Amino acid sequence: MTAEATAQAVSLESVTKAYGAVRALDGVTWTFPRGGFTAVMGPSGSGKSTFLHCASGLDRPSEGTVRIGGVDLGRLGEAKRTRLRRERIGFVFQAFNLIPSMDVEQNITLPLELGGIEADPSWLNEVVRRVGLSDRLRHRPSELSGGQQQRAALARALVTRPDVVFADEPTGALDPRTAREVLRLLREAVDITGQTLVLVTHDPMAAAWADSVLFLSQGRIVDEMVGPSPTAVMNRWESL
Ligand SMILES: Nc1ncnc2c1ncn2[C@@H]1O[C@H](COP(=O)(O)OP(=O)(O)OP(=O)(O)O)[C@@H](O)[C@H]1O
Ligand SMILES: [Mg+2]
Repeated sequence: MTAEATAQAVSLESVTKAYGAVRALDGVTWTFPRGGFTAVMGPSGSGKSTFLHCASGLDRPSEGTVRIGGVDLGRLGEAKRTRLRRERIGFVFQAFNLIPSMDVEQNITLPLELGGIEADPSWLNEVVRRVGLSDRLRHRPSELSGGQQQRAALARALVTRPDVVFADEPTGALDPRTAREVLRLLREAVDITGQTLVLVTHDPMAAAWADSVLFLSQGRIVDEMVGPSPTAVMNRWESL
C-alpha cells in the first residue's frame, strides 16, 4: 500500500448506484482525506444517503471502486467487508437505531460486543463523559430525551475509535441547542482524536461546522465549498 493511499480515509472512483432506471449515484469520484470534516448537502432524493451507504461499505455500488484506508471493498467477500466496516467505520443514523431492551452502556458497547472486542474502560469513560451521559448509563432509550438518545448513538459510533464516522442527518430531530452540542462533539472528534467525518445535513448552520461542503444533485457532485459559512452555504443551496 502506498503512503498516498493511506493518507486517504475513503475514496470513490466512478461510483454508480442504479435502482432500475434511477441512477441514485451517477459516476461519483471523490476522496475524503484523513482527519477531514466534510458535509454533504443536496435536495431530497439527490443521492446523499446512497453516497454514504456506498462510501461506508454498507451497500455495494453497481459500478466503480470504493477504497477504505486503501483497501478495495469490491475485492473483499461479505465477511471481510463486515469486519473492516466494524473495525474502521462508525455510523450515526438519523433514527438513532438504539436497541430498546438494552440500557445506555449496553447500547454504546454493542459494536465492541459484536466484534468480540473488550471495552477499554478509560476510553469508554472518556466517550461517555464527552457526550454527557455518565449519569444515564443504566437508562433505557425510552427513558432518555431525543437529544440524549442521539448522543448515545454518537458514543456508540465513537467507542470503537473508527477511522471514519459517517453521520446521516444526526441533528435533524434535535432542538438548535442540542444540535449545537452534538456538532461540537463531532467537531472535537475530528480536532482532538483526528477522526475523519462525513456528515449529511439539510441545515446550513450544521454544514458550516465542516471544513468543506459537497453539493449533490441528481447523483452527481456539482460543487465543493471550502471553509463554509452559513450564509454562503445557504446562497449556494438556493441556486442548486
Ligand atoms: N432501495 C432503493 N430502491 C429504489 N430506489 C431507491 C432506493 N434507495 C434510494 N432510491 C432512490 O435513489 C434516489 C436517491 O435516494 P437517497 O436516499 O440517496 O436520497 P437522499 O439525498 O438521501 O434524500 P433525502 O434527503 O430525502 O434523505 C432517490 O430517487 C430514491 O428514490
Ligand atoms: Mg437520505
